[in-house]
Amino acid sequence: MAALACANTTEEKQATTEKEAVPGSFPIVIATWDVKKATAKAWEVMKNGGSSLDAVEQGCMVEEANADGQSVGIGGLPDRDGNVTLDACIMNPAGDYGAVVYLQNILHPISVARKVMEETPHVLLAGKGAEQFALENGFEKVNLLTENSKKAWEEWKITSQYKPIINIENHDTIGMLAIDQNGDISGGCTTSGLAYKMAGRVGDSPIIGSGLFVDNEVGAATATGLGEEVLKTVGSFLIVELMRQGKSPQEACEEAVNRIVKKNGDRIKDFQVGYIAVNKQGETGAYGIHDGFVYTVYQNEENKKHVPEYYLKS
Ligand code: GLY
Repeated sequence: MAALACANTTEEKQATTEKEAVPGSFPIVIATWDVKKATAKAWEVMKNGGSSLDAVEQGCMVEEANADGQSVGIGGLPDRDGNVTLDACIMNPAGDYGAVVYLQNILHPISVARKVMEETPHVLLAGKGAEQFALENGFEKVNLLTENSKKAWEEWKITSQYKPIINIENHDTIGMLAIDQNGDISGGCTTSGLAYKMAGRVGDSPIIGSGLFVDNEVGAATATGLGEEVLKTVGSFLIVELMRQGKSPQEACEEAVNRIVKKNGDRIKDFQVGYIAVNKQGETGAYGIHDGFVYTVYQNEENKKHVPEYYLKS
């Protein structure tokens, strides 16, 4: 057990975190891709005594507001009709879940997902209903299609050839998992989905068990890459269940990728899936199908990009 997990009082916990940072100590944030500003925000929230739920919400918001990222929030590449549609979900340590799918014109789908979780009798709102709920709750209407993304879409329309892009600009869905100073786990996941997808398409990211799963007794996992394949194998739930059975986060991520590989044979050369996971002790793991997937961990006062192992070696 991590030294921090043995600490009893808040004072002891803080002292341990600052003086005896050891692998597995809390807080910890792990996120898909190289998103150090986002993990830094989440870390700061928890270092100031905030919960893992506040941390993942505020961490995801950093990437949603980043107009240069073309796979999350504002600046996301649109569907084939030119509409930017966003998917997000969030889970708290109690195992509660909230999500929005096919949400348009709202900057922070992760925050709308949290409101769905905390303030409605439902868990998932879609499309116009989700937008109406957001507007009624004080979110502003925003044009999410930036000039850069509009230009890219107009160029795409010339050939209209649809092919999922592997490791889109080394940035894809942002999945974030956090354990706070109390040892409680939350997770969030946010995306604009596949570029030039069919109108109405929803991927894995907002779907509990696929793009994200949190079990505060065991750990959490989240996914990036081709959502259709993550959905078919319920990847994040699978990873958490494998950890429950005793696998390490690394072994569990590898097994979840192997399930996709087994189902798809040669097809795996055409798409990427990457998983990250953390267990209750604060051990982390990550694995992808292809090279190019990276993730960020903020732990022991260090905010660092990591390059995971991957299945398809050339
Ligand atoms: N993983 C994001 C998506 O497929 O929509």
